[in-house]
Amino acid sequence: MSSVEKALVIRHREVVPDYYELEFIAPEIALEVLPGQFVNIRISDSLDPLLRRPFSVYDVDKKLGSITVFYKVVGKGTKLLSQMPIQKPLDVMGPLGRSFSIPTEADQVFLVGGGVGIAPLVYLSRVLSSEGIKTKVLMGASTAGFLAGKSMFEKFGVPFLVSTDDGSEGLKGRVTQLLAEQLLIDKCDYIFACGPESMLETVTELAMEQNIKGEISLEGHMACGVGACLGCAHLVKTGEGQRYAKICSEGPVFKIGEVLFHSQDER
Ligand SMILES: Cc1cc2nc3c(=O)[nH]c(=O)nc-3n(C[C@H](O)[C@H](O)[C@H](O)COP(=O)(O)OP(=O)(O)OC[C@H]3O[C@@H](n4cnc5c(N)ncnc54)[C@H](O)[C@@H]3O)c2cc1C
Ligand code: FES
Repeated sequence: MSSVEKALVIRHREVVPDYYELEFIAPEIALEVLPGQFVNIRISDSLDPLLRRPFSVYDVDKKLGSITVFYKVVGKGTKLLSQMPIQKPLDVMGPLGRSFSIPTEADQVFLVGGGVGIAPLVYLSRVLSSEGIKTKVLMGASTAGFLAGKSMFEKFGVPFLVSTDDGSEGLKGRVTQLLAEQLLIDKCDYIFACGPESMLETVTELAMEQNIKGEISLEGHMACGVGACLGCAHLVKTGEGQRYAKICSEGPVFKIGEVLFHSQDER
């Protein structure tokens, strides 16, 4: 069950330019949250910005009762959030949304993250590893300096490979090229992915071509965050056709093959 907590900010730092890690104490949310779920943070005490902003849970310390989110500054809300001082109370709602499932039958899973889409895959990697499921992370960024989640996988001992658009580290190209390459040389029973929609569409195509099951997490626009406004509606396939699903309550995690992407919508 989700709750609203007056959390206390205990750590807040810019990891690389415009990318921040924010840790806050929120024991009730920390106790319940599962990988893939998100929190909705009220950015300001004033009415501007009015709406809370959603962020995936990047890591959890259940003993300490803390949650860490990893975010990129893209607009007004995240700019204001980046100025949030330590020891400041923060209004946080969560845990929200559908979590990733844990494929206990799988021998090896791939986690594919593009840009800030790596955020929900860090906590997931830790849970999968603790379940004894072999996990390989494939992460992509525009340039080496933005491969911010790397230190977390190093800390947890989760193997990872990287790609960068400019070739400054790892494979030169998209993370989906890295995935295609790895699918040729290594066993993979299940894929989890989060990142831009174009990336998720290619991941879906690659997985379906090879009959590999998996789940993707959408990070589309959101308003109320609790299923009340339809502000986050996204087309999904049904047996008979298509319908709108609410990312905030029916997602953000969907099965591979379930989501209808914009380009498919236009076909
Ligand atoms: C379930 C979920 C989990 C998320 N997890 C994370 C996370 O872990 N880390 C993180 O950095 N971000 C995450 N996001 C995205 C984050 O919520 C937005 O970046 C944030 O709300 C933007 O607020 P803002 O006020 O700074 O930007 P705004 O001023 O609202 O918008 C600035 C610009 O960014 C665009 N924009 C805003 N929101 C989104 C979005 N969701 N997708 C694409 N473009 C957007 C706007 O169109 C505009 O061009 C998540 C979103 C969802 C729905
Ligand atoms: S954001 Fe309001 S229904 Fe999802």
